[in-house]
Amino acid sequence: MKKRIYSGTQPTGIITIGNYLGAIKNWLLLQKDNDCIFSIVDLHALTIKQNPEEFKDKSLSFLAQYIACGLSPEKSILYVQSHVLEHTALCWLLNCMTYIGECNRMTQFKDKSKKHEDNINMGLMDYPVLMAADILLYKTDLVPIGIDQKQHLELARNLAERFNARYGDTFTVPDGFIPTVGAKIKSLQNPESKMSKSDSNENASVGILDTPDMILKKFKRAVTDSENKVCYDENRPGISNLINIYCGFTGCSREDVEKQFSDGGYGKFKLAVADAVISVLEPIQKEYAKIMNDKKYLLNVIKEGDEKARNIASKTLREVYDKMGIV
Ligand code: TYM
Repeated sequence: MKKRIYSGTQPTGIITIGNYLGAIKNWLLLQKDNDCIFSIVDLHALTIKQNPEEFKDKSLSFLAQYIACGLSPEKSILYVQSHVLEHTALCWLLNCMTYIGECNRMTQFKDKSKKHEDNINMGLMDYPVLMAADILLYKTDLVPIGIDQKQHLELARNLAERFNARYGDTFTVPDGFIPTVGAKIKSLQNPESKMSKSDSNENASVGILDTPDMILKKFKRAVTDSENKVCYDENRPGISNLINIYCGFTGCSREDVEKQFSDGGYGKFKLAVADAVISVLEPIQKEYAKIMNDKKYLLNVIKEGDEKARNIASKTLREVYDKMGIV
């Protein structure tokens, strides 16, 4: 039985190998046999200040990266969130049944409030409700995400159940699809924290469009520890992160890696990780360069994707209006 899959990425900064291993790799897997919708969630990105000139180009570039990674506009719906107005309409309706405490205790809201002290806006707090609207509009069964989005998905599940209990069965209660390896890829410079798209330290994250030289340099500089033994250990986050990245890109198990690199130090292993990453990313980068040259094609993909998404979303919204007594 085909399942409805929904996920998205904010078009900010760069798509990192964290996004790739945590989300996109599973999108590719699920795309084969399911009914998939992948969005570029530009409205979410606006909860942080964006430069309009740079922001304008981001959505097209992200779409080209999705396609270069292997997402197919023939198999899946690829579209831009802000083009389907039903998202903000449903978000408002869900706002009216979300408690302030639920948003206030979101870890990501707290983290981002600390990071952007001068811009703790309503959108930042409402972010998870908009995400719930994204997911519920399409009656999604499965949401492939990294672990950092799990708390937001919980809210979507709670809102679906709350709405169904109050107004009758309407929304599907979505499940998460979180990888065992790659659910939380860490920063190469501070392996205690998540690798992030918008890290100001450019050595901290590897972008899927980084050149082979850059990738090699970043892995060589990756922070580890003084033990120099390739061995997975939660208390040694640097080397454990590199092992996770290697496993994610090669399909090897942690035990395989430990055996394979038992007699070499970190230096040799870092080169092997860089090699593994480069060999997956190089073909993606070639494809990206080709697709980015064809703006007409990209705009057409968006137009068709928007239409298909709107078709599904508008039916759900009508049903919701009806259940809530909106004439
Ligand atoms: P965003 O744009 O921050 O990240 C996109 C996806 O990448 C995952 N991810 C990671 N996985 C592993 N390691 C990391 N270091 C890492 N960093 C990011 C994220 O978990 C995510 O799956 N709120 C979402 C976007 C969104 C969404 C949705 C997702 C909006 N509406 C509906 C699913 C369904 C976000 O900010 O993702």
